[in-house]
Amino acid sequence: MKALIASGGRGTRLRPLTHTQNKHLIPIANKPILHYAIEAAVDAGIKEIGIVHNADSEEVPNAIGNGKRWGVKITYIPQKSPAGLAHVVKISEKFIKKDKFVFYLGDNMVVGGIKRFIDEFETSGYNCYLTLAKVKDPERFGVPIIKNGKILKVEEKPLKPKSQFAVAGIYLYDHHIFEAVKKIKPSKRGELEISDAHTYLIEKKYKVGYSEITGWWKDTGKPSDLLEANRLVLDNIEPKTIGYADKSSSVLGKVILDEGSKIINSIIRGPAIIGKNTIIENSYVGPFTSIGNNTYIKNAEVEYSIVLRDCKITNVKIRIEGSILGNDVEIVDAVGKPLVHRFMIGDQSRVEIA
Ligand code: G1P
Repeated sequence: MKALIASGGRGTRLRPLTHTQNKHLIPIANKPILHYAIEAAVDAGIKEIGIVHNADSEEVPNAIGNGKRWGVKITYIPQKSPAGLAHVVKISEKFIKKDKFVFYLGDNMVVGGIKRFIDEFETSGYNCYLTLAKVKDPERFGVPIIKNGKILKVEEKPLKPKSQFAVAGIYLYDHHIFEAVKKIKPSKRGELEISDAHTYLIEKKYKVGYSEITGWWKDTGKPSDLLEANRLVLDNIEPKTIGYADKSSSVLGKVILDEGSKIINSIIRGPAIIGKNTIIENSYVGPFTSIGNNTYIKNAEVEYSIVLRDCKITNVKIRIEGSILGNDVEIVDAVGKPLVHRFMIGDQSRVEIA
């Protein structure tokens, strides 16, 4: 059993964050999203992982490395253009060979890991095993048409979804998937759709099974998904205090204070994580907040937010909530007259002020 992880694409719905970094490397609870995918494979006992990445960038290979730190071997497979998920599979045949594999979209997060699905697949005799999750907005996903416990077809982003399920980005295959991805034609949006490959297998009478993901599952495609995934991960953290909180601070609930962090005269109400060498002074950090490394927060309140590394938030009078701040972002008070809001904001940013 091998794992194939997709980490390509442009992440357009997560701009401006993705102007400067690959979306799969954006941290959730201070850990890159891609690490969760790798760890899910490692926890399921997989030793060989292929990661498909954009051919024009070494960002993912540089950030992830050869897999040694997880005790696995990682092979990188460059994709020249984002030609669809079935194309990702197609270019990975040399790596997979005749093995069975789990194809994991690197921006998907699932609680409880993937071992259960791998075990079910390996003992079932299916050629393809899909994981389904009930969602409110199936039109954003691949949607199965199910009748009498069997998938008849998978429709990609249908205008009128025929079930409440999304096909989650965790797929299990044997080598017949390569026949499918070679036979299908590009869709209207010009991509080789993984949903079409699934429909092909069904039409050719290959055995396609499925299992429902009953815990939470998230495709972190848009900003609100990142905040939601951050909330769900923080909800399950083990509290840990390596950093320091002074006597006039209160650290309540599940909180991780990482190495070198300092909490001075502040309230940290978990679940929350405070990164390495980050200083929080005269401030409030509320539930479901991740603060990255080397960040400085003084006289401010932050809740239900993701703040990345090297940020500075000082003397902000109104609570910052439901926000995502990239690396090196500053939100500070204006000094001098006239009293103004002064913005220096990159392309495709969004600011809401009270
Ligand atoms: C892709 C697949 C879709 C699947 C989804 C799961 O969509 O095309 O079938 O349901 O991943 O995350 P995309 O993320 O490319 O919109």
